[in-house]
Order: sequence, then structure tokens, then C-alpha cells
Amino acid sequence: MDYRRLGRSGLEVSVVGIGCNNFGRRLDLDGTAAVLNQAIDEGINLFDTADIYGGAGASEELMGKALEGKRHQVVLATKFAGPMGEGPMTKGTSRNHIMDAVENSLRRLNTDYLDLYQVHFPDPETPMEETMRALDDLVRSGKVRYIGNSNYAGWQIAHSQWIAEHYGLTKFISAQNEWSLLRRSVETEVIPAAQKFGTGVLPYFPLASGLLTGKYKRGQDAPEGTRLSAGPMAERALTDSNFDVVEKLEEYATTRGHTILELAMSWLASHPAVGSVIAGATKPEQVTSNAAAASWVLTDEERAEVDQITRS
Ligand SMILES: NC(=O)c1ccc[n+]([C@@H]2O[C@H](COP(=O)([O-])OP(=O)(O)OC[C@H]3O[C@@H](n4cnc5c(N)ncnc54)[C@H](OP(=O)(O)O)[C@@H]3O)[C@@H](O)[C@H]2O)c1
Repeated sequence: MDYRRLGRSGLEVSVVGIGCNNFGRRLDLDGTAAVLNQAIDEGINLFDTADIYGGAGASEELMGKALEGKRHQVVLATKFAGPMGEGPMTKGTSRNHIMDAVENSLRRLNTDYLDLYQVHFPDPETPMEETMRALDDLVRSGKVRYIGNSNYAGWQIAHSQWIAEHYGLTKFISAQNEWSLLRRSVETEVIPAAQKFGTGVLPYFPLASGLLTGKYKRGQDAPEGTRLSAGPMAERALTDSNFDVVEKLEEYATTRGHTILELAMSWLASHPAVGSVIAGATKPEQVTSNAAAASWVLTDEERAEVDQITRS
């Protein structure tokens, strides 16, 4: 496993991270522990969860149990701002909610510090300065070591960095946004802003929920029990236009001695903006495949060829 500094910070993270949104929703405690233990064995140190994953804290709670005795081996990243209950005080990025949310995440995760605390979604109703000051207080108190954002537009990344700079507050070291071979819209504004301000990018949905692993085939039933075997997400993902691109990418990778999974992970990992590619997994074997899939260093020529396929 390779490690790199996350953004312009000293924090070293594995190039492949583990997304934890299956815990509490698809996986119970045994399933969670199996995935997390495999990740540690593979050298993965970045574990990304959120208070809302699994439904009102379930992912964090299972992780708190599964990581007992292993806390020091991982970079624990979680998020706040999504709705955790009814009413106005259970969501958003106000000082009021942040101070409650951090205590609840610490308790569920069974730890007294968070390595990376991320704003899950921008909150247009709360002044950015209030959010940055509250997060800075958490860093100064030792409850949080680094801060990051998620789903910010490019201008919000710039705005938050300017406020931190101007008032001498802690800066975001990471930006988590959807980015994959099938979803490239962040490349217009978010990635240039992140690079300009030294914010390491953590691409989410890197495998397009599994579509970029090659296990879904046009005209065939989805493998049983997989995320895209049913539901509205499947309808949105398993489209002819997506299969047109996926089939070309698969052929491109195969003729170069690689798999489409390796192409999906390596194409992101070899971009200079990327800190860690956080792929989710429901089985330990998936963790092993994903951990090994980011070592193809694409040449400029190969990137241009892949551009042609994904932009056509
Ligand atoms: N900040 C945000 O707003 C936001 C939003 C979404 C996600 N995220 C983060 O990003 C992480 C990654 O996203 P994601 O997990 O939803 O999507 P993803 O990484 O694109 O897809 C993960 C899913 O693909 C399947 N899969 C993974 N590896 C595989 C392999 N080697 N072979 C075959 N199938 C494989 C698994 O589902 P099945 O086994 O069910 O097929 C797995 O749950 C999340 O866990 C979360 O931490 C953040």
C-alpha cells in the first residue's frame, strides 16, 4: 500500500481508503468487523464514515465496537451536517449543531478524538465564518485533529479557505466529492479549486456503486444481493449510455492487461489532486481487490485515451 500526505497537511493516508456507508445498512457487526479487519491487514488506514450512515449513527456505533483495541491503527474520518433527527437543531453546520454532533460521534465511535472531521454538505443558511470558527475550536480543544469538507462547490472551497486565512483559523485539508470515470463534473470547478488551495481530494462513489467493477452486464440480471440488484439507484445506474462507456473501458483495460476495476481506481489515484480513493465494500475479498487496484500509473497518453472514451 502506498501512502500520501492529505492535501497540504502532514497527515499520511493510504492511497486506497475504505468507505463505511454499508455498515449498519447492509452489514451487521460481524460483517463490519470482517471488512475493517481486512482493510487493516491490507495496509488501508483511512476509514471514512458519517453520523448519518446506516441510519442515525449505526455505522459509527458498529465501527466503535469493531475497532476496539485498534483505534490507534486508523485515520478515523467522519462527517456531520446531514439530518440526525427531527427539527432544526439536528442538522446543518451551525456552532450549535457542530458542538452536539461532535460529542455524539465521539461517543458512538468510542474514541476521544477524530482524525478528520468533515462538513458533509454545505449549509447555505449558516455563515461560513461561524462554521469555520466552531471547527477551529474543536481542533484547538484536541477533539478533532484535521477538518475537511464534502460536496462543496469550487467557490465554497475558495470561500472557506479565504475565511480561514483571513481570521487565522484552521483550514480544510480535504474535499470529498463524487468523482469517477462515469461522473466527471467536478473536474470543471472543484478539482482546480482544491489544487489551488492545497485541499486533497477524496473521490466518493469511485466505482459508481459497483458498476465500474465489471460485474454488471448489459441485458443480464444484476448479481443477487448486490447494491444495484434493485431499487431506484439501479435504474439510474444500469442504463444503456453507462454500459456504452463501461464496455469500452473494459475493453481498453483488458487489452492492456488490466481489469476495469484497476482502471477505475488507478485513474483516480494517479491524478495529482487525489489524496485517497475511498471505495466501499461489503466483503473482505472486495477490500483485497480494491487495495491492489490502484497501482497502474497511467501515462499522459493513456489518460488522454481514457478521456476520449468517457467524454464521447
Ligand atoms: N460525502 C458524501 O456525500 C458521500 C456520498 C456517498 C459516499 N460517500 C463515501 O464514499 C464511500 C464510497 O462510496 P460507495 O461505497 O457508496 O460507492 P463505491 O465505492 O462506488 O461502490 C462500492 C460498492 O461496490 C461494490 N464493490 C466494491 N468493491 C468491489 C469489488 N472489488 N468487486 C465487486 N464489487 C465491489 C460493493 O457493493 P455490493 O457488494 O453491494 O455490490 C460496494 O459497496 C462511501 O462508503 C462513503 O464513505 C460519501
